[in-house]
Amino acid sequence: MKIAIIGGTGSIGKGFALRWGHKHHVIIGSREQEKARARAVEYTGILKDHGQKADITGEINAKAASEADIILLAIRYGQISSIIEQIKAEIDNKIVISVVVPMEKDRCIIVPNGVPLEISANSREDYKADYFCYVTPPAGSAAQEIASLLPAGTELVSAFHNVPAAKLSNLDTELGYDIGVCGNYMHSKNIVFGLVRDIPGMRPLDIGPLETSSMVESITPLLVNVAIRNHMKDVGIKFVD
Ligand SMILES: NC(=O)c1ccc[n+]([C@@H]2O[C@H](COP(=O)([O-])OP(=O)(O)OC[C@H]3O[C@@H](n4cnc5c(N)ncnc54)[C@H](OP(=O)(O)O)[C@@H]3O)[C@@H](O)[C@H]2O)c1
Repeated sequence: MKIAIIGGTGSIGKGFALRWGHKHHVIIGSREQEKARARAVEYTGILKDHGQKADITGEINAKAASEADIILLAIRYGQISSIIEQIKAEIDNKIVISVVVPMEKDRCIIVPNGVPLEISANSREDYKADYFCYVTPPAGSAAQEIASLLPAGTELVSAFHNVPAAKLSNLDTELGYDIGVCGNYMHSKNIVFGLVRDIPGMRPLDIGPLETSSMVESITPLLVNVAIRNHMKDVGIKFVD
């Protein structure tokens, strides 16, 4: 498959390129073509050092999207509307994957009955310590907001939110994580389950339709808080039955 990683020059994008680059054609997307191509060369070199042949190229975001079968959005929440505007014309019934987590430091926004209520770090003495918080988007989750910006009929799958980029990018480590997958179409979810299984040590778990994405997205700030406060590294999730 041809997979465009929009924001593939960033932390988590690098991890996906390294984990899929030997099995799929990965197209690194960036706002700058030179940067995209330089990262493609860098990631190809890392795979070569690990004895693997890579198929990784780099293009500006819109061209990367136009060349792909699957488009993965590895960008920050604040950039989703501008980036989707840039690639919208190229989406054309392709599967889109969102790994986007809207989170901020020391700032909780709770949305009771659709009315945003902000609790800032300065408003309460006991909120002053370092911590990360899920910032609920007006649509309910980043995935639902992205869905509202995509062309009608686009199959959006929300997944991979709870994977730490550093460990994903380190080909010398075992992963051992579960990956929650949310979406409204079983056909596209099955394709994403396959992409999860392509990465050794990852297990896909069906969470439900797209509106369940907020549950999975909001686990990420919890994992980061656990890591920071308990001096742990690369915390992820694994369900045990
Ligand atoms: N990092 C993690 O461990 C992790 C884990 C799970 C999920 N996620 C989610 O994955 C997404 C990406 O996270 P990340 O840590 O990889 O982010 P990042 O490294 O900060 O940024 C990703 C890419 O976004 C592009 N970018 C930066 N500023 C931009 C702007 N103003 N407008 C448009 N594009 C811009 C950059 O690409 P160019 O400069 O090349 O255009 C950058 O390489 C986030 O939504 C995050 O919540 C991250």
